[in-house]
Amino acid sequence: MTPTDQQLAQKQQVAEAAVRFVRSDSILGVGTGSTVNCFIEALAASGKRIEAAVSSSEASTALLQSHGIEIMDLNLAGTLDLYIDGADEFDGYRRLIKGGGGALTREKIITAASRKFVCIADESKKVGVLGRFPLPVEVIPMARSFVARQLVAMGGQPELRDGFVTDNGNVILDVHNMDLVDPVSIEKELNNLPGVVTNGLWALRPAEVVLMATASGVREFA
Ligand code: A5P
Repeated sequence: MTPTDQQLAQKQQVAEAAVRFVRSDSILGVGTGSTVNCFIEALAASGKRIEAAVSSSEASTALLQSHGIEIMDLNLAGTLDLYIDGADEFDGYRRLIKGGGGALTREKIITAASRKFVCIADESKKVGVLGRFPLPVEVIPMARSFVARQLVAMGGQPELRDGFVTDNGNVILDVHNMDLVDPVSIEKELNNLPGVVTNGLWALRPAEVVLMATASGVREFA
């Protein structure tokens, strides 16, 4: 979806607000997506220097490197103090749906390896109950049909993301109309399906902070 001008302005606003969470000379986890792209630009423009970034996608790596920011392998970085990333949806408990950009596996790994996840989003992403946005599930290619049948049995309508291969060589099933009233249980159930690499629910480990851009400024949920 092409963001409206207002959404783009909000993404830039919330990206700038996130820069103040970044400690100089730290190793920073960086997510993926259009809001994160705004964050990378804002970080570069701020003049704040970081030691290196652990990146969740080839796309973010390219943008970070274009600003002279060094990329570090997570295996060398150890536990990160901070991870900054966007979301496709968030609820009042800071639980998220992510993976619209297809980078969910690396994003979930970096989330788990970070002490604090600051999620940056515009107000269009706020929902009462998760599930308006189709839930991305990354699947090993040979398990695609098997996993799709299990998702149907769970009440969802999986749709193969056409022509898309993840950075890890897998496919994505976008699951429509899944009942996500209890996202913790669904996240666990999906984690247990053989062939599922990662699902796009961040409920077992929600964001510690959500920064939400609104027409009247940035609101912080923590
Ligand atoms: C990437 O895989 C996603 O998890 C993104 O964080 C999410 O799609 C948000 O993207 P935008 O900032 O482009 O809306």
